[in-house]
Amino acid sequence: MIDCNPQDELPKILSDYQVYFFDEVSSTNDVFNEIAEMDTDAKICVVARTQSCGRGRRRSHWVSLNGGLWFSISLRSQNPPSDAVKLTFIMGTAVVEAVHEIGIRAVLKWPNDILVDGKKLCGILSTGKVSRGVMERVIIGVGLNANIDPASFPSHLRGSVTSISYLCGHEVDLLLVLEDILNKFEVRRQSLQSGHWLKLLQEWKHHASFLGSRIGVVSSKASIVGEAWDIEVDGSLLMKLDDGTTRKIVEGSLRLCIDN
Ligand code: BTN
Repeated sequence: MIDCNPQDELPKILSDYQVYFFDEVSSTNDVFNEIAEMDTDAKICVVARTQSCGRGRRRSHWVSLNGGLWFSISLRSQNPPSDAVKLTFIMGTAVVEAVHEIGIRAVLKWPNDILVDGKKLCGILSTGKVSRGVMERVIIGVGLNANIDPASFPSHLRGSVTSISYLCGHEVDLLLVLEDILNKFEVRRQSLQSGHWLKLLQEWKHHASFLGSRIGVVSSKASIVGEAWDIEVDGSLLMKLDDGTTRKIVEGSLRLCIDN
């Protein structure tokens, strides 16, 4: 269980991040909109025990029960908006590797789900503030089903989610997991700053077991089926369709096909 900071206490420092703990917020991604001093260069992390309005990708509601690790980080940036995708990818790798250390064989699913045996363990949602072609700030929100019994999820989700405590048979220390994820993320962020994106993308692909499989992609524009061929340098998914052509997918939800 994560304790909230008393009102008058300074934020905890983990891996160079000022970490603020809350009992309940609407969404940890949204807390940054309310923090006035966002001009700061500080790296900030907001953690909440629960979220009343947790947000998922494609405008979905993110169920944020007590026991999960719900956090967002905010980074100042002077980079192009395309870097938001890269930072989201390296956060995915950081979470997968932290989870591996706990002994769970998790994999990545494009664009940024973390699954175990096809069930969702973690989701990542990034937003950014862009001004005159420059991404001034990026916010990366991570929802990790840590110490939650999957049976306590609403019935429509029960069959499709999993958790660390369910898979390991015991609860984990949320603060230690958070610190490990932030450390792993920071190492990769510095590597990204030094121009090593291709190496980092390779590392992401190493954990992406869906590559080479038959998949379906549902996006706002269409639903298509084909083979997951590759991930392009801009983070988009390259699919090989049944007629032999390739299609670049920039947004959508991916479904692993089991019928073939
Ligand atoms: C997804 O749909 O897979 C992304 C889910 C992201 C959930 C996390 S929990 C912390 C942060 N706050 C939110 O409201 N969403 C993200």
